[in-house]
Formats: sequence, C-alpha cells, structure tokens
Amino acid sequence: MNTRRLVVGISGASGFIYGVRLLQLLRELDIETHLTVSRSALLTMTHETDYKLADVTALAGVTYRCDDMAAAISSGSFRSMGMIVAPCSMKTLAEIASGMSSTLISRAADVTLKERRPLVLLARETPYTLAHLRNMTAVTEMGAIVAPPVPAFYARPASLDQMIDHTLGRVLDLFGLEAGTVKRWRETEIPANAPAPAPQPA
Ligand SMILES: Cc1cc2nc3c(=O)[nH]c(=O)nc-3n(C[C@H](O)[C@H](O)[C@H](O)COP(=O)(O)O)c2cc1C
Repeated sequence: MNTRRLVVGISGASGFIYGVRLLQLLRELDIETHLTVSRSALLTMTHETDYKLADVTALAGVTYRCDDMAAAISSGSFRSMGMIVAPCSMKTLAEIASGMSSTLISRAADVTLKERRPLVLLARETPYTLAHLRNMTAVTEMGAIVAPPVPAFYARPASLDQMIDHTLGRVLDLFGLEAGTVKRWRETEIPANAPAPAPQPA
C-alpha cells in the first residue's frame, strides 16, 4: 500500500495559487496526490492566475470531478495520509463543520475526519463572521487543523512565491514532510553538538 498518498481539495476562496504550489511541492516530495477542484475554484483560477485546469490536473496523480461521489476519495476504505484543502472557502468550511457533504471536497474531508486522519484547512476569508469562527471551532473540535494562509514576516519573504512556499512548508510540517521551503526561526543558531534541552514543566 502506498502510504505516501494525500488528498488535495482546491475550493473557491481567494488563493488558488496555494493549491497549485502545493501540488508542485508534493510532486517534488514524491507524494501521490488525489485532487478535486470545486466549480467556484475554476472561477478563482481564471480571475487570479493564468493557469488552465489542464495545467493543474497535470500536477496531480489522479483528479476527480467535484460532483463525482463515487470517486475513490469518497470512501474511507481508500487509504491516505490525510487531506489538505488549499485554499478552503467559508462555504466548504461550513459544509465540513456541519457534516454536510454536497461536493467531493466536503465528502472527502468528512471521510478524512471519520477515519481520524489529519485534515488541514487553509481557511481564507477576512474579516470573519461569528459563523466562520464557530465553524472553525467545530472542525477543530472534530480533529481538523485550521491553518489560514497568513504570511510570517519573521521569515523576511522577498517575494510572493517565498511567502506562499513558507506557508505551505508549515502545512507540510503537519504531515511530517520537509519541503525545504521554511526559513526556521533560530534553528541554524543551535550548534550541532548542543546538549539536548532540559525537559520543560508541563
Ligand atoms: C474571485 C473570488 C474570490 C473569492 N474569495 C473568497 C474567499 O477568500 N473566501 C471565501 O470564503 N469565499 C470566497 N469567494 C466566494 C466563493 O467562491 C463562494 O462562496 C463559493 O460558493 C465557494 O464554493 P466552494 O467552497 O464549493 O468552492 C470568492 C469568489 C470569487 C469569485
């Protein structure tokens, strides 16, 4: 069984490029990707990038239509390391929070949660309504990780690409995958022969 397999959903929040770059990084890491793109994401793709759907599906191992409820990723018996929704709209977030699965993205996310596999949502909106915040709380209570694509300025990004890669590198950290795109805070200052840090009180 190929455990190096991840489900990727691209929904219609701003930031289509996060989904594209994520697929590229996972390809470099030799992770088999199973992709589904929502209808609204096709709109953001057109408004925000010069990509065509074929360019994006070419980066994925397998692509499923977002209304294909018979797709492999709609069943928990299809094994994977987990799922990333990048970016995650407030509508898809709400569907996941309520357990309503009207698209393949929300169904695959529901499956990921019920199988107790890692689910990471790059939830994107600003500002938030109370409904957004409550839905983020609900998915967190169910075990998902809400990881909004918020840039880290301590990394001193010199470009949008660096900003995106840092965010995605931190997302891949959550799966134990080293993308090599994270400028890690003060890690390089620690000498190789430094003693192990003393255990901290709980
Ligand atoms: C250019 C554009 C940008 C959008 N940005 C956001 C956003 O940042 N967050 C969000 O929740 N919805 C955003 N939307 C609205 C969603 O696309 C819309 O709610 C849609 O129903 C989401 O469907 P999906 O979750 O199935 O992809 C945007 C729509 C467009 C056309």
